[in-house]
Amino acid sequence: MRKEEIISGTSEYLMNTYGRYPIAMVRGKGAWVWDSEGKKYLDFVTGIAVNNLGHCHPSVVRAISAQSRKLVQVCNLYHIENQVEFARVLVENSFADKVFFCNSGAEANEGAIKLARKWGGANGGRYKIVHARDSFHGRTLGALSATNKKYQKGFKPLVPGFKSIPYGRIEPLERALRDEKVCAVMLEPIQGENGVIIPYADYLRDVRRLCKRKNTLLILDQLQVGLGRTGKLFAYEHYGIKPDIMTLAKALGGGIPCGAVLATNSVARHLSPGNHGTTLGGNPLAMSAGTAVLKTILEDGLLDNAAGMGEYFMSGLLSIKKEFGGLVRDVRGKGLILGVEFANAEAAKDAVVRCSNNGLLTILTEQKVMRILPPLTVKKNEIDHALEIIRRSLKEATVA
Ligand SMILES: Cc1ncc(COP(=O)(O)O)c(C=O)c1O
Repeated sequence: MRKEEIISGTSEYLMNTYGRYPIAMVRGKGAWVWDSEGKKYLDFVTGIAVNNLGHCHPSVVRAISAQSRKLVQVCNLYHIENQVEFARVLVENSFADKVFFCNSGAEANEGAIKLARKWGGANGGRYKIVHARDSFHGRTLGALSATNKKYQKGFKPLVPGFKSIPYGRIEPLERALRDEKVCAVMLEPIQGENGVIIPYADYLRDVRRLCKRKNTLLILDQLQVGLGRTGKLFAYEHYGIKPDIMTLAKALGGGIPCGAVLATNSVARHLSPGNHGTTLGGNPLAMSAGTAVLKTILEDGLLDNAAGMGEYFMSGLLSIKKEFGGLVRDVRGKGLILGVEFANAEAAKDAVVRCSNNGLLTILTEQKVMRILPPLTVKKNEIDHALEIIRRSLKEATVA
């Protein structure tokens, strides 16, 4: 199809749920994607933190090709070897004892909320979930009830039993936990959709301590900052703490839909057959892709690469901030989740569009922030290329 046909077909046949750029991607390799007109882009959107190994990584391609010839789906009425294999790698490399597999991030968060409520029911009839006001946990009704109000418009009534507090401050959480009906606190270790917001260094440690004191579960949504993005396999490792429940998706299946809820035995034991489930969750195809993703991250030194390349990128962004002080107000990040905050929403949008026109894909987040999510396989010369495009785009903006 020609680009015009693809774009008009989108409005003819698809529900109008996404604001899309007038670009149709048709091919990807490593950190690069090509559109329907043959234009090449450096992809630092990575499917919104999905393609952590870059596009079409040989280990994922090999795994899904082989698995697709063997068995794609059977359902959870039977034991599935690939689930055991993948869950074992996740358990051996995290705080968790048990895993539940599903298909998306919102679904993983739904599972976490249900698990916390099941635990809460057995621990004094507790059911309330405390979450951060500006968080993003997904679009299904339970996850949406724990998400920033602006996404909730038009969908009320939501699920009752959710209380929001400001992110990154411990006193409001302390007050919220005086309510004895609270069973869990649900947070992102770094807020992605809210503009790459990194809380003060001891925040998660303080939250963990408070949850322990109140016998309340800590759920960490690591969808965006799990699987190596911050330079550790899971972001909680930076803070010397462990959650009780963690959710994963996005990069988990290397692009094949896959989500997971991970928990300690003492929490997971509250679920029994019939409590929760999904037909497609944990299917052999997604499991084979996920195992390949995780093994590659661990065995190919990608955690070190994410940490090192993250620092290198950040130093380049800091010098851009110095150069374009009027336009760029802040740069921040951890590993390979990076944010450039602009003076205003118009400047940020203009920068994201100019970068895209110049061959670098980034995401506009919370209006004022350009979010940058390179693959963990990114090379120094690709970061140099991205920095050159950002610099060129900002120069164009200042003379326009
Ligand atoms: C932190 C976080 N949680 C949950 C979600 C929802 O995930 P999904 O789109 O797979 O449902 C997202 C998506 O951006 C996210 O960033």
